[in-house]
Amino acid sequence: MKRIYLDHAATTPTYPEVVEAMLPYFTDAFGNPSSPYSLGQEAKAAAEEARDKIAHLIGAQSEEIIFTSGGTEADNFAIKGIAYANEHKGNHIITTSIEHNAVLEPCKFLKSQGFKVTYLPVDKSGLVDPQEIKKAITHKTILVSVMHANNEVGTIEPIVEIAEIAKEKEICFHTDAVQTVGHIPLNVDELEVDLLSMSAHKLYGPKGIGALYIRKGTRITPFMHGGGQERGRRASTENVPAIVGFGTAAEIAQREIDREVKGLVSLRDKLIQGLFERIVQIHLNGHPWQRLPNNVNVSIEFIEGESILISLDLEGIVASTGSACSSNALEPSHVLLALGLTGELTRGSVRFSLGRETTEEEVDRVLEVLPRIVTRLRSISPLLKSRT
Ligand SMILES: Cc1ncc(COP(=O)(O)O)c(C=O)c1O
Repeated sequence: MKRIYLDHAATTPTYPEVVEAMLPYFTDAFGNPSSPYSLGQEAKAAAEEARDKIAHLIGAQSEEIIFTSGGTEADNFAIKGIAYANEHKGNHIITTSIEHNAVLEPCKFLKSQGFKVTYLPVDKSGLVDPQEIKKAITHKTILVSVMHANNEVGTIEPIVEIAEIAKEKEICFHTDAVQTVGHIPLNVDELEVDLLSMSAHKLYGPKGIGALYIRKGTRITPFMHGGGQERGRRASTENVPAIVGFGTAAEIAQREIDREVKGLVSLRDKLIQGLFERIVQIHLNGHPWQRLPNNVNVSIEFIEGESILISLDLEGIVASTGSACSSNALEPSHVLLALGLTGELTRGSVRFSLGRETTEEEVDRVLEVLPRIVTRLRSISPLLKSRT
């Protein structure tokens, strides 16, 4: 049975071209980029070329890109780094209730250290109201952090409007763009952000490598102290093969992005429409059109998302119930709860996240298989029985 992988928001397959580009940096060109001899300088040149490609993808300057171990570290670096660098100005951070744990947890940590955090609500489509941000700002606010697009429901936030408010008040603005970099065209100057987090494994690059964009002139406390790599902001010998892979993935994304967006929007809409035609009592989670081109998140009444996933898996279809990092927790998704869904609807949610290699035949197969699964699960559903 050929597997149909529809969980690209959790991770993407590493592109063969990416793996190929990485390989020499494990073997022949294994030098330490800090070494002055040619073997080291060869590795350094490759890492710098990758930095250029990533900067180009987001419209930044190369020296504004700092490599990290992934999206989680980029978020932690941004939030703690800005908080500690601006402690003398204030101790208030504004974020939202639908952020990834990579943002929520550092905020929680900072709260335990005496910082104050405001978590803004979202509307039922997952949108943050920029006016709410304006109202929440105090003279002690030092950071606003709002994700570019939500990883579970795909809603794309009004980042430009929020950034303008933050800029007017001279407050640093960070966005977690882990789900958007390489997926929708994005430019840090147009978005007017000061900091932006990315992760290579979400854009067909390797796991364990990410980056934080830090606008020139932004004061930030270094994340790791040591040998002074990454302009003294993140010490440790650079993971050159992974950096090269990230750069190659960024280069491919830049080349493919327009075609990819167009293709994915059409497949996404076909899947949504097909599910609504074939399944009754189904709800689309997230914004109807201001959403990621690859995200379909639905709640299906009277059944558990977990049961749907297991049944889909038996048919060779891979999907998800929420974010991969928390979907083991069996707790209702904090994102769906923030959108105002009932406990039952949060438990009945399934997320399909399509990818570059997703085909129309694969979407057709989901449309053939899922209604059958729903009918069977509903026929044995205690949730449905208790209603009748
Ligand atoms: C929105 C968002 N932020 C941060 C992360 C964490 O990224 P990483 O897995 O590279 O640490 C993820 C991963 O799921 C994500 O979706």
